[in-house]
Amino acid sequence: MEPLLTEIDHVAIAVHDLEAAIAWYAEVFGATVEHREIVESDGVAEALLRVADSYIQLLTPTRDDSPVAKYLANRGEGLHHVGYRVADCARALDAVKASGGRVIDESPRPGSRGTTVAFVHPKTSFGTLIELVQDPN
Ligand code: CO
Repeated sequence: MEPLLTEIDHVAIAVHDLEAAIAWYAEVFGATVEHREIVESDGVAEALLRVADSYIQLLTPTRDDSPVAKYLANRGEGLHHVGYRVADCARALDAVKASGGRVIDESPRPGSRGTTVAFVHPKTSFGTLIELVQDPN
């Protein structure tokens, strides 16, 4: 079978204070912000720090009822999800469903920076929230 996952797109880390996290990555590792975005539909503000061809995605909630706010309240700061780059988000999502896997997004939807994304539930993916990321570039 031809691999559906082509690269690690990003590692997403949930934080309480986005500016403090950005400053820490800059001071300690010299990592700089390449892109910032507020994704209202998800209730998050994100900062993408490039590491080679992948990103560290720092995430913080923009409202108390967002999934990331709930995550922080229940689990505290830390690794939130891993974004895998795929050539075809719908096809990768179908592969998950065909395997009996549980999905959060029934079909691909717009993500940040013009991507198309779908989330896979951690329950059937060995405890990891997975984001399938199709980059238009
Ligand atoms: Co993500």
